[in-house]
Amino acid sequence: MNANQTDPFGRRVDYLRISVTDRCNERCLYCLPENYQDWLPRHEILTYDELLAIVRATTALGFKRFRVTGGEPLVRPGVVEFIRDLIATEGVESVQLTTNGTRLPELAKPLYEAGLRRINISLDALDPAIYRSITSGEVGPVLAGIREVKTLGFDSVKLNTVLMRGRNDGEIFRLLDFAAEHDVAIRFIELMPVSLTEMLSEENFFPVTELLALLRREDAPEPLNESFGYGPARYFRLPKRGVKVGLIGALSDLHFCERCNKMRLTCDGKLRPCLGNHLETDLKPALRPCLNASHLRQLITGTLGQKPLEHLFRNNYQPDRVMTAIGG
Ligand code: 5AD
Ligand code: SF4
Repeated sequence: MNANQTDPFGRRVDYLRISVTDRCNERCLYCLPENYQDWLPRHEILTYDELLAIVRATTALGFKRFRVTGGEPLVRPGVVEFIRDLIATEGVESVQLTTNGTRLPELAKPLYEAGLRRINISLDALDPAIYRSITSGEVGPVLAGIREVKTLGFDSVKLNTVLMRGRNDGEIFRLLDFAAEHDVAIRFIELMPVSLTEMLSEENFFPVTELLALLRREDAPEPLNESFGYGPARYFRLPKRGVKVGLIGALSDLHFCERCNKMRLTCDGKLRPCLGNHLETDLKPALRPCLNASHLRQLITGTLGQKPLEHLFRNNYQPDRVMTAIGG
């Protein structure tokens, strides 16, 4: 056993994001091209048993935190039972879910009963027309879902907003008020070149440094220490509004990658050591036709050993997969 793995740069990597599907019931501007049809064939998608075998291999290497993501994870049948099994897996200390929130009205309670206590919900706008123009979906069920998770008493509820100039920058203060009113943290994420939609441009990009300057005009953001949240987000408390804000400055924060603690598993079994790099290891040969646990461990350790120092987003990075196939 080789617990508490570090990568070649001394970063402790103990966090795995698991994409359980590449499918989604929304179609965000920054994620999926309008007529996208290239969904992975079903037999390519790992079964829940295969995903759990990978989880067990990573816990043996010191991984402790897991996030279930997609595509939209809540559109895959059986995901609630998978989350229950993941939570029950030895060595798993924290399980979080990232969702677009559209299915929370019916699934929040079963998820809570399965033991889930931490959830991130995408919310790019409150205004129904703006929300629709960004995601192609309806904001009403998402807001109902957020109320439901608060009523149920989840321990950690965070909202995710991808910032786009001219699209939702006018929603920032309404979103902050909404987060304060519902006592949830809100994270603003810089647009990244991770999808095939070519949304990222000089005109659309809204750096979190500019957001912080805006917040400083209104309030006195107090930096929170590293223990709030994990990974590269920087958190602040806004004392006047009484809300916690996370800034995810993948492009503008030059120290972003220094705090990276994760790897990503695609729904078809590719382990990616970095979101902004094409490196990936196919884990399927260690899973099919039957599990080879030592081979699996070897592949995971080898991938960790290739973890790059930083992403390539500032180098005219051209993504090779849609975001839904990598895991948001
Ligand atoms: N840029 C930044 N964040 C993105 N996400 C998806 N695509 C992008 C992108 N191009 C993130 C959003 C969304 C989650 C599923 O993935 O945070 O909420
Ligand atoms: Fe779906 Fe999330 Fe992609 Fe939007 S960002 S289309 S909700 S997977």
